[in-house]
Amino acid sequence: MSLTEPHGGQLINRVDYTFDYSAINKEIELDNIALSDLELIATGAYSPLSGFMNQVDYLSVLKNMRLANNLIWSIPITLPVDEDVAKSLKLGEKIKLSKNQTVYGILELEEKYRPDKEKEAQNVYQTTDLTHPGVKKLFERPSVYLAGSIILVKHPKKLTYQQFYLSPTDTREEFHKRGWKTVVGFQTRNPVHRAHEYIQKSALEIVDGLFLNPLVGETKSDDIHADVRMESYQVLLKHYYPKDRVFLAVFSAAMRYAGPKEAIFHAIVRKNYGCTHFIVGRDHAGVGDFYGTYDAQKIFDSFSEDELGIIPLFFEHSFYCKKCGNMASTKTCPHEKEDRLILSGTKVRDMLRKGEIPPSEFSRPEVIEILIRGMKE
Ligand code: ADX
Repeated sequence: MSLTEPHGGQLINRVDYTFDYSAINKEIELDNIALSDLELIATGAYSPLSGFMNQVDYLSVLKNMRLANNLIWSIPITLPVDEDVAKSLKLGEKIKLSKNQTVYGILELEEKYRPDKEKEAQNVYQTTDLTHPGVKKLFERPSVYLAGSIILVKHPKKLTYQQFYLSPTDTREEFHKRGWKTVVGFQTRNPVHRAHEYIQKSALEIVDGLFLNPLVGETKSDDIHADVRMESYQVLLKHYYPKDRVFLAVFSAAMRYAGPKEAIFHAIVRKNYGCTHFIVGRDHAGVGDFYGTYDAQKIFDSFSEDELGIIPLFFEHSFYCKKCGNMASTKTCPHEKEDRLILSGTKVRDMLRKGEIPPSEFSRPEVIEILIRGMKE
């Protein structure tokens, strides 16, 4: 079996750092979400997208979880601007895409349209409740969407961990070099705790390599900062993973917290990076009680593995069981709730803030040390 084909058959490459945009005078300011989407469209992580979605694709994604050409796609990739900005832009013209006075991209404006955000919220997030961070963000963003193909003229990578920004072409090359025929992708927005480690290593028993691909784009404010997490991943890999079987690179997208729909999106992107398998555990990309524990697994029933082009690996809620003396899940452990060490993310963050050390059965001490230090900084 060779590495999986990109979604839609071909990797998109819209990167051109030599592109001369000196004659373009229209310019719009991107938010963090749009900036990371620009980068990921250009590098091919979002293949087959070559720009921000037009209305036909957008509506098709909401209604059918497919692009207008029928390819599976579950999350709208849009470029919202204010009404007056939209009015000042003409169809067909090129526009500079900037953030804090730096130009990162060029948009060739194909279309402007007004989304029905209630409908978008309901379809993508299954709720219009503004306490949902993804829904809140959706309504906070401006009200007109711009569509059109893009070019990336400058990479928005963060200085602190720049070597971990790799395009799907780079990661595919790396997997090939390592001789990996099967690669499992792992998405996370958290430090890697023992339950994560357990499901990753369970997967590693059956595939050649693990692609640890933490999301480092915008997350909600109480999630642990990406700089700190990046440090914690490196120390964990150094001490507890065989070097030649794991590869770490960042996924710079913003977190949507869209649960099931985001799980499909996360899988497709990892397929583009060259993964053959993708881990989906408990409440993947979920938040609060908005989704059922295994909804993000059930949604994969909507598509055949052949059509999706990546094999999801599902894991039950995992934990340390004191009686088993092991990491386990309800699939493998016969004991009672009281025997199991289960800590919520909120509880752990509270402990860390107070400088309390969660048990080593929950998280590796080297990881905890970095998280506590990160909380103080
Ligand atoms: S996510 O928002 O990026 O999905 P998180 O970083 O917590 O959140 O999870 C990363 C992956 O590990 C997801 O696939 C999630 O379902 C899975 N996961 C997290 N905790 C557990 C657990 N205790 N048991 C099984 N799977 C888990």
